[in-house]
Amino acid sequence: MISKECKRLVEVEFPINEVSNHSMREKFVRYGHPSGLHLWRARQPLAACRAILLALLLPDPCDRHCPEEFKTKAGVILQDLKDPLEYGDMALRKAMLKFIGDFADWGNANEPDFIEMGRGLVEAAYPEKVPLIMDLFAGAGSMPLEALRLGCDAYAGDSNPIARLILKFLLEEIPRYGRELAEELRRMGSEIEKQAMRELAEFYAQDPDGEMPYAHLWARTIRCTSSNCGAEIPLVRSFWLCRDDRSKKALRYKVIKPREGPPFAEFKLFEPITDLGIPEASIIRTRAVCLCCGNIISSEQVREQLSQQRGGADVIFNEKGRRIGGARLLAVVTLRGRKYHYRLPTEKDYRAVYRTKKRLEQMLDDWEQSNKQELPPVPDVSLPPEGTPNFRVQQYGMSRWSDLFTARQKLALVFLTRCIQKIENPIIKDAMAIVMDRCIDYLSSICTWDVQRQLIVRTFSRQALPISWDFCEGSFFGKGPGGIENAIDWVTRVIEAWPGSKIGRVKQNDGTKHMLSDSTPRVWFTDPPAYGANPCDDFSNFFLPWLKRALPGHLLLSPPGNPENTFVMSSVTVSDNTKSDSPQPENYAGFEEAVAKLFSKGRHMLNREDICSVVFNKTAKGREALVTGLINEGWIITASWPISTGTASCSRGKDFTNLTTDVYLICRPRPENAPVGSWEEILRELPQRVNSWAAHLQRQGICGSDLAFACIGPALEIFSRYCRVENVKGETIRPGIYLEKVFGQISTVVKD
Ligand SMILES: C[S@@+](CC[C@H](N)C(=O)[O-])C[C@H]1O[C@@H](n2cnc3c(N)ncnc32)[C@H](O)[C@@H]1O
Ligand SMILES: [Zn+2]
Repeated sequence: MISKECKRLVEVEFPINEVSNHSMREKFVRYGHPSGLHLWRARQPLAACRAILLALLLPDPCDRHCPEEFKTKAGVILQDLKDPLEYGDMALRKAMLKFIGDFADWGNANEPDFIEMGRGLVEAAYPEKVPLIMDLFAGAGSMPLEALRLGCDAYAGDSNPIARLILKFLLEEIPRYGRELAEELRRMGSEIEKQAMRELAEFYAQDPDGEMPYAHLWARTIRCTSSNCGAEIPLVRSFWLCRDDRSKKALRYKVIKPREGPPFAEFKLFEPITDLGIPEASIIRTRAVCLCCGNIISSEQVREQLSQQRGGADVIFNEKGRRIGGARLLAVVTLRGRKYHYRLPTEKDYRAVYRTKKRLEQMLDDWEQSNKQELPPVPDVSLPPEGTPNFRVQQYGMSRWSDLFTARQKLALVFLTRCIQKIENPIIKDAMAIVMDRCIDYLSSICTWDVQRQLIVRTFSRQALPISWDFCEGSFFGKGPGGIENAIDWVTRVIEAWPGSKIGRVKQNDGTKHMLSDSTPRVWFTDPPAYGANPCDDFSNFFLPWLKRALPGHLLLSPPGNPENTFVMSSVTVSDNTKSDSPQPENYAGFEEAVAKLFSKGRHMLNREDICSVVFNKTAKGREALVTGLINEGWIITASWPISTGTASCSRGKDFTNLTTDVYLICRPRPENAPVGSWEEILRELPQRVNSWAAHLQRQGICGSDLAFACIGPALEIFSRYCRVENVKGETIRPGIYLEKVFGQISTVVKD
């Protein structure tokens, strides 16, 4: 056993530059990476989690309490990484750091040699029993997943039902069934696709050669307000359709003035060489420009007219099925071989949409006539109220989640939910629900067409839900990302990439109320929700109404007596508020209280020799609450390591609000009998502690905000090792006061 006196590697050194680089690169990894399973906000990079966890688990070989047996075994495992000119414990420490840095590379994460070495090191450190890694705010599971990769036991909790769905799949089902699961999913996917061909194909206009559309490019429309014009204005940001090096396509138009009725713009496809000849955008910021008369339409008018159409994602037809308004089709994209083909829309395309609308109406009528035991087929839940940060669609009349989808998208999703309902195997059912969520992310009217890369940009490509004036309707058929085949492919690649591991344990519960304790060595590794407005849970509601239809009766998704209630877990108060359907006001006292409760529980879950790492909040208030909670509830903060996924560290200055940097605080349970500290002595020690640690890091080339963040932990240690700190007058000093002093001191050391 590693004794409580023995420092862990993470308390003395950490390869932050290497791990930051790998964390940054990981953002661009596509197939096989667990982020391909499901959209999730605030996901920690696996590179960072793997590296921090390994450094938390392994003892520092230079510490005099480090078990000799560990050093011997680790020396053998890392033999090839050791500098042949160096000997002893320092050489082993360097080799361990090198291994941690290299293993952080996604390219090595599933390599058998690396896995074997990583697991070998953990076994060498814990010969009696593998440690348990706990994360009670596990989200999409980065931390517990890395625990499994390193051969540990993993316990993951989260109060969000979607997180639970992802966690169960990632940490329980993939390790339990491996490739068998992938095969079964593929089989089920192809069955669903065949059925879709029978039931949905008529709602997509095929080309004469039978090719199904890959994507429909639409524009929302309004009418020109000029009294002698009244033309329909398709709201288009750019008339380019495709603009890559090899192929260029765009739309241009001519104004037709019929004898009767308003003028209109008639589009033609052409192949431009440069921007010359490409019409100007018809929507600039939030104001529109009439293509026929040049009249400028105010933002208010745009808002009002789109509101009348509930956002305008759907086509409006007359009773004979002729389009009379609403969304206008700009072009249809098909994929031939590996090449995209663009064509202008035809009447046939609109007929297909008309049939879709009729089918959907009939479906809703059938439900009205039924005994309404089931939820209505299309979810009609309210969006968060107007003014919710990052949600900008409500002002254009999209007040319900269903307004975000076109009729055809709704029909495809209703079809998919019904297919999933019929799946008997509960594991495949849950897996298919994950597949469905991937489709949903690419099947809303918020998706756009990236003309440079010729691909569909997902709904949540940004941390926001803004309106897309012109949008891309992905197809449920073909190889595109709105389709089942594509989604199955992404999910099965994640399964197939997994190197095999123990099976994790997943629970959906409130992390501030949970307790786990026995004598297993453990690491508490977690990233609790941040203080401040965080729309994370509102985004979950995008998927949740569809999930409730696909998995009816799933208690976790539909609390009894409240079947359609959206799930809004306030990240602000860290409370289990599953009933409310509006965002919580910022509640600092509530947050502080929840954080205190959390660290008090956490403290009781760990044994004295155990260790913890918590991701530091990004807001000043959040940090204060975190540090106060930790210190007051019995923790010593011993180190802190920033891992950046943004720009190079030295150009980031000493910015304490750097949003691309995650700071991992390293903490230890404080002994019950810790003494009372003297405020004056701590203040005398602070500059010395910060300066000497900063000098040590600077010698390793660490600078800018990385240097600043890495000094926080050691500076907090000299305060947090006491059970309480008092000044000469006997007054207790709050941790928040000390934190300010720490930031002040660090600012003097770190140069911009
Ligand atoms: C910052 S995220 C964690 C992200 C995670 N580390 C990852 O890599 O995906 C915080 C998580 O805490 C969860 N959460 C919020 N309040 C909670 C509570 N009271 N109990 C348990 N989980 C909670 C949220 O659902 C969210 O998944
Ligand atoms: Zn006009």
